[in-house]
Amino acid sequence: MTVQNETTGPLTTEAGAPVANNQQTETAGVGGPALIQDQLLLEKLAHFNRERIPERVVHARGAGAYGTFTVTADVTKYTRAKFLSEIGKKTETFLRFSTVAGNLGAADAVRDPRGFALKFYTEEGNYDLVGNNTPVFFIRDAIKFPDFIHTQKRDPYTGSQEADNVFDFWGLSPESTHQVTWLFGDRGIPASYRHMDGFGSHTFQWNNADGEVFWVKYHFKTDQGIKCLTAEEAEVLAGKDPDSHQRDLRESIERGEFPSWTVQVQIMPAADAASYRFNPFDLTKVWPHADYPPITIGKLELNRNPENIFAEVEQSVFSPHHFVPGIGPSPDKMLQGRLFGYGDAHRYRVGINADHLPVNQPKAAVARSHGRDGFMYDGRHGGAKNYEPNSFGGPHQTDKPLWEPTAVSGLTGDHETPSHAEDDDFVQAGNLYRLMPEDAKQRLIDNLAGALAGVSREDIVQRAVENFRQADADYGKRLEAAVQALRG
Ligand code: HEM
Repeated sequence: MTVQNETTGPLTTEAGAPVANNQQTETAGVGGPALIQDQLLLEKLAHFNRERIPERVVHARGAGAYGTFTVTADVTKYTRAKFLSEIGKKTETFLRFSTVAGNLGAADAVRDPRGFALKFYTEEGNYDLVGNNTPVFFIRDAIKFPDFIHTQKRDPYTGSQEADNVFDFWGLSPESTHQVTWLFGDRGIPASYRHMDGFGSHTFQWNNADGEVFWVKYHFKTDQGIKCLTAEEAEVLAGKDPDSHQRDLRESIERGEFPSWTVQVQIMPAADAASYRFNPFDLTKVWPHADYPPITIGKLELNRNPENIFAEVEQSVFSPHHFVPGIGPSPDKMLQGRLFGYGDAHRYRVGINADHLPVNQPKAAVARSHGRDGFMYDGRHGGAKNYEPNSFGGPHQTDKPLWEPTAVSGLTGDHETPSHAEDDDFVQAGNLYRLMPEDAKQRLIDNLAGALAGVSREDIVQRAVENFRQADADYGKRLEAAVQALRG
């Protein structure tokens, strides 16, 4: 990247004219009012006013780094994706970590899921996996996402995040019990972005050269080991060093300590999906490892810091609809909503040509579309025809979809997510609770009780506690007692 300001030439205006005085505004006489002909003053103030773009509506606070993904196992019987086609094959990546609820300047050390948004610059186009550090999510239908996020963000009247809103929504959305148990447990506040796992969270489709379909879940196991903060440690760190995660990531890469993750997949043959004990497309559920053991397929290493955070991190865009041949969506209703949501956010936040920015454009493939013009278009297509079909040798369709079709049945309608034999909103939350050693259970109860104690209405507290009771009687009983003790 050219760093123009490191040359020894004169300071210039944006249009390149030399600047005579960057210290004094031009005035009418000594001590007089400023002149409109001082174009440098006007240009500087105007440029400054436009330095910010809208922050991400969620995941505003984050940090990123470039890296390399290396294939370590033969997965060609599951997918025809070229970047996964050979053991030893390497693909450039960019990963942006984030927290969810906080604004751009928020502290890193908070109890919140962490985003794990990964871009593979493959030879068949960019593949984005926009996941979290948790294998599940709070809700299972995209139509609830704006409501859910409203409860996590600032209340329209008080201007603060309100425990009332948070627990009201969770209490009324029992499918959140699993993710909330995860969030208030020991892994709820990672010590850094390096010391946590990542997950694709949704189920995705892989398809092989013969057109066979597999359902896949991605796991990124940290090679640094899991390290988390207690609520007390986080409270101190968030105050002392709000940028703790961002600093840790940058400094570790500067030291040459490149963080890495072992990449695993759980693979379900398509024929299993209909009869699996849990709906495999329900984002509030995991596939227990005993059912579909994770298979190690690769290594992800982060080894280069961005040079310019605004250009490369703030303007980076990731979209769950960026697939490549051999990979596609599942019918998960959350994922389906996200296939629209992200591209739309990018067009609003960064602009219609966001994909042309260096961090976002394909690096190992060439983008050849008939999309043209719009704000900040750089003229990359020159005089080439901008329509198709054409008789001038322009790019043309392949007739080969990236993914295989999914069978559907029945009528259109506002259907609930289908329930499989062992599906309910509480079973996996209860299993997670019962798996915890006693001291971890106690910390979970303390963390949840501390947050619930801030709720102003008894009915909201009771409804929330009831969900945890349904997950496990002991969980509910202890939580109720702990909340009562705090509320007096
Ligand atoms: C229907 C549900 C969801 C909707 C509508 C939604 C929408 C959004 C939007 C609009 C953004 C900001 C994008 C931008 O401005 O560039 C975003 C960011 C993000 N979301 Fe979601 N989201 C949903 C669920 C999820 C889930 C389930 C996960 C993880 C499993 C997730 C992970 C992320 C991450 C990691 C980012 C930050 C991406 C980045 O670093 O630029 N979201 N989401």
